[in-house]
Amino acid sequence: MSEPRAKTQIELRGVTRAYGEGDALVRALDDVDLEIRQGDFLALAGPSGSGKTTLLNLVGSIDAPTGGRILFEGTDLGALTDRERTRFRNQRIGFIFQDFNLIPVLSARENAELPLQLLGESSRAERRRASREMLEEVGLGKLAHRLPRELSGGQQQRVAIARALVKRPGVVLADEPTANLDSATAQEILDLMRSFNRSLGTTFVFSTHDPMVMDYARRLVRLRDGKVAAIEEREEE
Ligand SMILES: Nc1ncnc2c1ncn2[C@@H]1O[C@H](COP(=O)(O)OP(=O)(O)OP(=O)(O)O)[C@@H](O)[C@H]1O
Ligand SMILES: [Mg+2]
Repeated sequence: MSEPRAKTQIELRGVTRAYGEGDALVRALDDVDLEIRQGDFLALAGPSGSGKTTLLNLVGSIDAPTGGRILFEGTDLGALTDRERTRFRNQRIGFIFQDFNLIPVLSARENAELPLQLLGESSRAERRRASREMLEEVGLGKLAHRLPRELSGGQQQRVAIARALVKRPGVVLADEPTANLDSATAQEILDLMRSFNRSLGTTFVFSTHDPMVMDYARRLVRLRDGKVAAIEEREEE
């Protein structure tokens, strides 16, 4: 018996992102249709230049398509003003990066608190409590006072996961989150992402070159030359 299909959370309809013009025109994404479902644990794979980062940046509304539409929980991202889009992104989307992107002069806890500060909806005490709890959830409760340079790569990525999840976004986008980690640490990071995917129902979309990382995905989208070449559905173990 198959489960009823989870509802669509993000929908790409005929999405194109072109750069340059004339002979120099590059379609980083070329007429892509894709549904991302609530609670997905979805990997984007494909050779260098196939469009993985471009797709993540469009879904995260860091960048805008040159053609087609992106619907995010029914909201057409293209219909928002810049201000609305920034607010939407701050509230609804968490980001994790390959090189962690922590602020070097802030402690682990202060880094994890930043998205709440940007949102400006909670008191200082609430933000402190939420960021401390989040660091405990990623196993860094005792290291909350440390600066990024006093942490290992895996620990820094845990801080980045805490930062991405502290505002409880519906979606976390991660561009090659394990590319700078050894394979044992990469697996710890994936296990942590998957545990949040299961406990909170947060959708995760992550890009990778690594077959071991692809194996963690519940759905694998293979890109080639800016197009979706294949979508593989995996069984839950
Ligand atoms: N700002 C830009 N200006 C021009 N071309 C760009 C720009 N950003 C990306 N591209 C082109 O778009 C295509 C897709 O790039 P993208 O970064 O999405 O690939 P990728 O799959 O993330 O690759 P990688 O695995 O190397 O990270 C490439 O041909 C790239 O050169
Ligand atoms: Mg990339």
